[in-house]
Amino acid sequence: MLLHIPNLLDAQELAHFQDAMAKARWVDGNATSGHQSARAKFNEQLPEDGAEARELGERILQALARSPLFFSAALPKQVFPPLFNRYGVGMTFANHIDTAIRTHPVQTVRIRTDLSATLFLVDPESYDGGELLVEDTYGVQSVKLPAGDMVLYPATSLHRVAPITRGERVASFFWIQSMIRDDAQRTLLFDLDMAIVKMTQAVPDDAALVSLTGVYHNLLRMWAEP
Ligand code: NI
Repeated sequence: MLLHIPNLLDAQELAHFQDAMAKARWVDGNATSGHQSARAKFNEQLPEDGAEARELGERILQALARSPLFFSAALPKQVFPPLFNRYGVGMTFANHIDTAIRTHPVQTVRIRTDLSATLFLVDPESYDGGELLVEDTYGVQSVKLPAGDMVLYPATSLHRVAPITRGERVASFFWIQSMIRDDAQRTLLFDLDMAIVKMTQAVPDDAALVSLTGVYHNLLRMWAEP
């Protein structure tokens, strides 16, 4: 499932991000790459252990914790500390699949990357190109979102970033280990949860809601690795 999460960051938060990122020192993006993707990647990043990335990353983790949509879609077990990249004119990231296992830089636990996330941090009108192109069974999905919006997609997907032809694309990217490893099972739980939310608004006293909510929790209990 590829899911658009609107307004993860509000205008005030975004202004803080844009100010901090404009002042920050950016380095060659291959600092975080695996062997193969180092040949595909051409961009810049905030240093992973730098104060800016830590502070901004913490703000993103707090925004994720406030988002019921993120929780329902990702059923997160661990979130890798958010990283930040910048693509200027001519920069690109060719087709790749993200590394399966990452070690958390502080807690030194291993995180299996079940979901990949990109949080867009600048106005899409301010640059040309830079679409995130994700290949799935329905073909290539092209994603270019308003600043503050995020996309979640299965980390198993082949994806790339189209070359920038004007301006600068700035985004945060990170990975999530889910309590539900399998994308199809996670998608099913998300669809069920969204249907229960709609029914709760439309027919709050319907007895079937108790049954459906029970089915949700019993499926979660059956499949989750909490
Ligand atoms: Ni990637």
